[in-house]
Amino acid sequence: MAKMAREQFGASHLVSSEDLRLCREAVEAAQRAYAPYSKFAVGAAIRTVDGKTFAGANLENAVYGLSICAEMAALANLNFNDDPGEIDAVAVAGYSLNQDVFSDQVVTPCGRCRQLISEFASRAHRNVPVFCCKADLSQIDVYRIEELLPHAFGPRTLGKGA
Ligand code: THU
Repeated sequence: MAKMAREQFGASHLVSSEDLRLCREAVEAAQRAYAPYSKFAVGAAIRTVDGKTFAGANLENAVYGLSICAEMAALANLNFNDDPGEIDAVAVAGYSLNQDVFSDQVVTPCGRCRQLISEFASRAHRNVPVFCCKADLSQIDVYRIEELLPHAFGPRTLGKGA
């Protein structure tokens, strides 16, 4: 089943069944969140160029500042399990675990996660799409990583030529 999503640059973008599957994986990954403090579950899923997928969920800590975001967990999962780990697309979704809070927002990656995704995108030489989803997938906003993080500090800045 194809689905329309808002592409921020240009016209609406038809999300392929493969992309939609990745978004569903992000929603499913959020179920694995450990988020007793914020009570906000986030899931991320990454697809590689050769079609493998790697997911992650946020992992909080009593020392609040040590929390790990879903995207970071997914990237670490990819890095550990895949070689060369060339990314092709990223999906993010999240929802409140608090019954009293109504949250139906599209989840976009935080600034730190944009930087982390940007590193892998540079490595893969791809301006990868980031599918930012509502948890029920009724809305999927598609951004390119260079749009989410323009003028990034990256490997090239360091003369690494990636
Ligand atoms: N969070 C993520 O997992 N990814 C983001 O890009 C934004 C925020 C998590 C961190 C924290 O566990 C919870 O969402 C609330 O901020």
